[in-house]
Amino acid sequence: MTAGGQHVSTLEGRTVLITGAGSGIGRATARLTAAAGAFVVATDVKGHDETAAAITEDGGGAEARTLDITDAGAWRSVVDEVLSSHGRIDGLANIAGIVSSTDTLLTQTEEGWDRLIGVDLKGPWLGMRAVIRHMLAAGSGKIVNTASTAGLIGMPDVLAYSAAKGGVIAMSRQVAVEYAARNVQVNVVAPGVIRTPMHGDVTPELMTAVKAATPAGRIGEPEDIGNMVVYLLGPAADFVTGQVFTVDGGWTAQ
Ligand SMILES: NC(=O)c1ccc[n+]([C@@H]2O[C@H](COP(=O)([O-])OP(=O)(O)OC[C@H]3O[C@@H](n4cnc5c(N)ncnc54)[C@H](O)[C@@H]3O)[C@@H](O)[C@H]2O)c1
Repeated sequence: MTAGGQHVSTLEGRTVLITGAGSGIGRATARLTAAAGAFVVATDVKGHDETAAAITEDGGGAEARTLDITDAGAWRSVVDEVLSSHGRIDGLANIAGIVSSTDTLLTQTEEGWDRLIGVDLKGPWLGMRAVIRHMLAAGSGKIVNTASTAGLIGMPDVLAYSAAKGGVIAMSRQVAVEYAARNVQVNVVAPGVIRTPMHGDVTPELMTAVKAATPAGRIGEPEDIGNMVVYLLGPAADFVTGQVFTVDGGWTAQ
């Protein structure tokens, strides 16, 4: 499909691997990525089968693969399997992540710190490492990592989470600069507060607080982030790399 000469089905013919595709932002991104024409490899430790099934029901292309992003061997197996069955991985969207409920200097434990850094920072590193050789050999590739506004500014209760998300931003810039001349683009999406299971139920109190703090006057929806990821995975972003895209209804603009 075209609009004024611009491609609308921007991801036609591309294969995109998405982590965290079993819930929230990852699931919405998987559905939007498939709607834009890509074949989606929906990965997670739970919920990814349902996501792939929903995409297939909608007439899109998808398959589900179990992938714990902290497991380097699992990354190797999944990437090898996808390459041998599809021959390509054009895009990687690292979306899986966790938060911790006791995440301050006084309350965070060493185990909690290691777990959070392991999933939220080491996970995306292992993912990029697993796909980069293929992308370099193919002569193109797009990687989108997920940070958070907590990786940009100070917030209460997110000590290790902020460290991980700030690390994701720094690491993404490094990889972007390293491989820009080889036509691999690496960018970061930094969501504000988004309505997903990560927050449990959105209580009326949280809704009121977010509305009061956000110029847009609402909580974000997973699709608000998914649409940004689709743009960053597509040809319209060929000259965009090493950047952080904050999607927060204007919250950090204040
Ligand atoms: N929801 C928000 O307000 C918000 C704000 C800023 C950033 N984010 C980031 O967005 C991303 C998605 O969050 P969400 O809100 O959709 O959360 P979510 O809890 O709905 O989904 C996260 C998914 O990650 C998966 N996951 C967790 N650990 C994993 C592992 N080791 N291996 C593979 N998968 C694993 C979970 O199974 C789950 O399906 C996260 O990186 C999160 O930090 C979310």
